[in-house]
Amino acid sequence: MRSIINEKNLKNKKILLRLDLNVPLERDKITDTTRIDKILPTLNFLIKENAKIIILSHVGRPKGKIVKELSLKPICEELQNKLRKKVKLISENIKEIKNKNFLSGYDEDIFILENIRFYSEEEKNDNKFAELLSNLGDIYVNDAFSCSHRAHASINEIPKFLPSFSGLQLDLEVNALNKMTSEITKPITCIIGGSKISTKINVIKNLIPKFDNIIIVGGMANNFIEYFGNSVGKSIIEKNSYKIVEEIISHSKKEKCKIIYPEDVMVSKDLNGSPQKKKLNEILSDEMILDIGPKTIEKIAKVIDNSKTILWNGPAGYFENPNFALGSIKIAKKIIENKKANKIFSVAGGGDTVSLLNNLKAVNDFNFVSTAGGAFLEYLEGKNLPGITALNKCLN
Ligand code: 3PG
Repeated sequence: MRSIINEKNLKNKKILLRLDLNVPLERDKITDTTRIDKILPTLNFLIKENAKIIILSHVGRPKGKIVKELSLKPICEELQNKLRKKVKLISENIKEIKNKNFLSGYDEDIFILENIRFYSEEEKNDNKFAELLSNLGDIYVNDAFSCSHRAHASINEIPKFLPSFSGLQLDLEVNALNKMTSEITKPITCIIGGSKISTKINVIKNLIPKFDNIIIVGGMANNFIEYFGNSVGKSIIEKNSYKIVEEIISHSKKEKCKIIYPEDVMVSKDLNGSPQKKKLNEILSDEMILDIGPKTIEKIAKVIDNSKTILWNGPAGYFENPNFALGSIKIAKKIIENKKANKIFSVAGGGDTVSLLNNLKAVNDFNFVSTAGGAFLEYLEGKNLPGITALNKCLN
């Protein structure tokens, strides 16, 4: 994999730059800008080289359709403010633009194409679509480590058409994760939470041999709570997950990895409601699980106290509502307390986890914080990430 930092031939080139600007949005407002802040060094580096920059990114999961709420417009405005430079949002359908030099008609040097997932070809990893995108640039740069586990056209296919490089943030993330996995000390505990259940549930099985404890919280835990015969009411859940949960449980027994899931939870009838403590067998059909309960917090704290390395991906509850943030805050505080006492090495990853730590002003209290969630876990699994493989294969 070649890094952009060592490339001498960038002056006045058109750089197709894949970023992960998948930041949390609430009614057009960005609630956490970490992913934008982290890629500013790459943008400033390319600006210094007088390059024309064409940014590709997704936000959310629009599934190949134009979804107004998932426009990159607020992100474009934020970039403009942070860079103090004009950034032009290209909202035209790029498949209908016939003149491949159409960008030279604009005064700006930085462009951002509208949400790349508005095109169904992106997630289909469509080679022709990637070729069309590649026609816009001379060089491709992937600075989206957090998307590199997706075999999508703008990540996996463009390197087949252009000289391709890694960006500064991708280099930083990969180097830090490599260092961490080679220097890890046992007992190791992985805390997995958040709401992207489908992305993560299959990863857990492969992580089992590498960890002493896996703590399952957040939306993911609902599948385990249901598996053990409890109703989860209207909580989020991954359908048809019985078999995978069963495999996780039996595999963990063989590998002597302890799986810890909630013993008690905080529920409400809706996301804006107030919390009510419940045992697992007390959850009603119109309630949803939105945080872990006090017994579970206590149990997790003990596991953290007995660990030497902690990896954390995904909050324990719906922390966007402070009523359901307590579980996540307590986990963060316990990790920080042990880190400050030099008892553990701590790594956190994922958009929501980073946003939570930012809210707590605790990002610098961890040994390393990765912007990546799913990619972070798959990298820990030892999987080859399509985005990294594509860069490694690109020899031109
Ligand atoms: C992330 O937030 O982890 C990345 O942007 C990837 O998003 P995805 O899970 O929707 O592919």
